Amino acid sequence: MTNDQILAIRAQFPALHQDINGKPLVYLDNGATTQKPQCVIDALSRYYSENNSNVHRGAHTLSDRATQEFEDARRTVQTFLNAAKPEEIIWTRGTTESINTVAATWGRQNLTAGDEILVTGMEHHSNIVPWQMLCEQTGATLRPIPVFDNGELDMEAFASMLSNKVKFVSVVHVSNALGTINPVKDIIAMAHNVGAKVMIDGAQAVSHWDVDVQALDADFYAFSGHKLFGPTGIGVLYGKEALLNAMPPYQGGGEMIEHCSFAKTTYNVLPYKFEAGTPNIAGAIGLAAAIDFLNRVDRIALAKHEDSLLTRANELADKIGGIRKIGTADKKASVFSFLLDGAHPADVGTLLDQQGIAVRTGHHCAMPLMEQFEIPGTVRASFSFYNTLDDVERLFAGLEKAKMFLL
Ligand code: ALA
Repeated sequence: MTNDQILAIRAQFPALHQDINGKPLVYLDNGATTQKPQCVIDALSRYYSENNSNVHRGAHTLSDRATQEFEDARRTVQTFLNAAKPEEIIWTRGTTESINTVAATWGRQNLTAGDEILVTGMEHHSNIVPWQMLCEQTGATLRPIPVFDNGELDMEAFASMLSNKVKFVSVVHVSNALGTINPVKDIIAMAHNVGAKVMIDGAQAVSHWDVDVQALDADFYAFSGHKLFGPTGIGVLYGKEALLNAMPPYQGGGEMIEHCSFAKTTYNVLPYKFEAGTPNIAGAIGLAAAIDFLNRVDRIALAKHEDSLLTRANELADKIGGIRKIGTADKKASVFSFLLDGAHPADVGTLLDQQGIAVRTGHHCAMPLMEQFEIPGTVRASFSFYNTLDDVERLFAGLEKAKMFLL
């Protein structure tokens, strides 16, 4: 992909074109949230200015229009994930709520004392704490699959942990703190061999490449709209239809019932059984606009461009020296997590921000992983396709300045 092609794509993201602290913004915090293309902003504005109404409820034209757009958005996500049916796409607030939904429904229904849930040692807190809460309620045990010091998962250890006690495996597709791409297809196949169900946290994966839930044979897959160039407050839980049908609802309220009486309430069909209350209609429409945007670009070429940004970051890190890379797995998404020797990550982040460079610092909601590395946190530059080689150069020039100031 040429630099001009990248610049043409970048031009569609208005927030990238501003000065921060007197310098042109270099936005390298895409792991936390991605910027939004103009078409997503326009879709939100158009919904609120032309079609705003509640869905599935009104006997009027506006409500029909809103319902149509909202359900079209579900089909857009279905196609994006290659799910078999739109009913398998449940709207949530984000990845966190998707994981909590499965833990609180499938988990409480199916787990008892003595059962085991496996996660990895590189999980975000959102893929640890819901399972810990479930273990407190059911007596099941949560076990982390070990991670090597280069950030790769110990697959032999995983194989040895699998037994008929393991009922559920929940694994991050791409680590937010390290960038490691986990071999989720193998993990799913191995877990299925012992009869376990598998959930994949795809929050950091879908922004880099297309995911096919049927090819993976994932039982559940979760992602957030805001990390996929869409709005905040909207996310997706994909689940296999048979599993979702057998699960109890998560929240009670409007829309999730078939019939409600004080004697007995019966529940709605999929996907509405899991969508109590007025949903984030604008969010779903905005997310579909983001996916439509991604469908118009060459994602394979853009992923290669992201890889070239990471390669350049590694080269420059080796050149300036004094950088400890955290996460050097062979298969990595474009996440560069590091420590500047002798400097606290928060100080480095502040000095970069003064130069207009946005990174995330801290434990990245992965405290168990930071404990393994015996560090308080890292500085994380997470690249997206709209970043340029110039952005990477600016990061390392900024780090040179930070070094002079701090060391
Ligand atoms: N989970 C997001 C991150 O890694 C917020 O920054």
